[in-house]
Amino acid sequence: MEMRFTWPLLLLLLPVALLLSGQGVRAAHTGDFQHHRYEELVRALFSVQSECPYVTRIYSIGRSVEGRHLYVLEFSDNPGIHEALEPEFKYVGNMHGNEVLGRELLIQLAKFLCEEYRAGNERITRLIHDTRIHILPSMNPDGYEVAAQQGPEFNGYLVGRGNFREVDLNRNFPDLNALLYYYEKSNGRNHHLPLPDNWEEQVEPETRAVINWMQNYNFILSANLHGGAVVANYPFDKSREIRIRGKTTYSATPDDKLFKKLAKTYSYAHSWMHKGWNCGDYFEEGITNGARWYSLSKGMQDFNYLYTNCFEITLELSCDKFPPASALHKEWMANREALISYLEQVHHGVKGMIYDDNNNPISDAVIAVAGINHDITSGADGDYFRLLLPGTYTLTVSAPGYQASTKQVTVGPAEAILLNFTLKTAPKGTNQNLKSQHSKKSQTTAKVSAANPGPR
Ligand SMILES: *[C@@H]1O[C@H](CO)[C@@H](O)[C@H](O)[C@H]1NC(C)=O
Ligand SMILES: [Zn+2]
Repeated sequence: MEMRFTWPLLLLLLPVALLLSGQGVRAAHTGDFQHHRYEELVRALFSVQSECPYVTRIYSIGRSVEGRHLYVLEFSDNPGIHEALEPEFKYVGNMHGNEVLGRELLIQLAKFLCEEYRAGNERITRLIHDTRIHILPSMNPDGYEVAAQQGPEFNGYLVGRGNFREVDLNRNFPDLNALLYYYEKSNGRNHHLPLPDNWEEQVEPETRAVINWMQNYNFILSANLHGGAVVANYPFDKSREIRIRGKTTYSATPDDKLFKKLAKTYSYAHSWMHKGWNCGDYFEEGITNGARWYSLSKGMQDFNYLYTNCFEITLELSCDKFPPASALHKEWMANREALISYLEQVHHGVKGMIYDDNNNPISDAVIAVAGINHDITSGADGDYFRLLLPGTYTLTVSAPGYQASTKQVTVGPAEAILLNFTLKTAPKGTNQNLKSQHSKKSQTTAKVSAANPGPR
């Protein structure tokens, strides 16, 4: 796929500029593309932070079992601050410790965003100004060290996949699908499903850190980078039917069309993913519904959709889970445009503010789209973001104590449409809009099925 960056002059000058700086000499050779052990990863992130101090911030969302920090590098024109109407995006890499390409791609992406911002690249500058981007290169630093100890050539299919306690983190999130599939039949809650009371004791430290992260930031769009296949996989991962060995059934979300489009954005911007034939498998257009491929429970992408406002897909990026360092440059070139194009998708659909009569923002208001049985909520600043494909939609916003408000909106293919709502206080004594917001739990605990050793 052709790069859509247009800086011909810069491209001509770049090699010269690189040769003039000590660091550039390394960057000019593919020798810059190496695997990064934990210490090197940390150093790489802090080096980007010092190169681009005004648009980056590093923070830790917690520690792994062995005490390694789960570092996030944030890009924004105001790092550390949520600005109303600026959507939050995240990339998560290396959840399976032995699937290492995502980790390296995210380090390269961080360097690239910083360098291009400094070089005045318009597209990147705009992205950083309009988006708050969070990059977690490794969700499983302990597993990575186990895999890296063996090195690329000798890495077994599963060595280092789990965390230090050998728990598969993509089978470790609370299972909210069972609850949703039950609610679907009874017209129950369709978003922000309740967690089991003791969820914190049921999950690994890495998973807990990521869930706390999701609770603290209003993420809108995300991707989770894996390896072992080449395909963009979208929710649901968990089948609606009880699993019968070998049987695969498509498990669509209410946002199925949108998820397909998000997955295709990546596969078509990737150099070969969209071609479909990869690693001995065939996926039409380089995308697949998770359950259609093979069903899995307690995965991260379904959890994002069912517990937060975030739409997440799972990207399988290489046949070889631990490719040799010599393959990294080519992989970066194959994924660069896709990583940027996917990020830009966070700017589609409808967004706006929810105010009360006195222009105070209302957080946690529920935004429903007629015909799509998946609501989203406004963030702490009263802003909401509803990803949608082009079309005409009817949105209804409701919040406890207010009269609901309904508006029509037509979404085009370009930037998100801005649509604000002002909710009138409900007359005293009425109790409208409070239709079973919190139909309380009775969480069914689905037993963990034997770990499926596939890429996801
Ligand atoms: C919506 O609210 C934002 C933030 O207060 C404001 O900047 C914008 O002009 C409003 N848009 C419309 C169409 O009222
Ligand atoms: Zn994986």
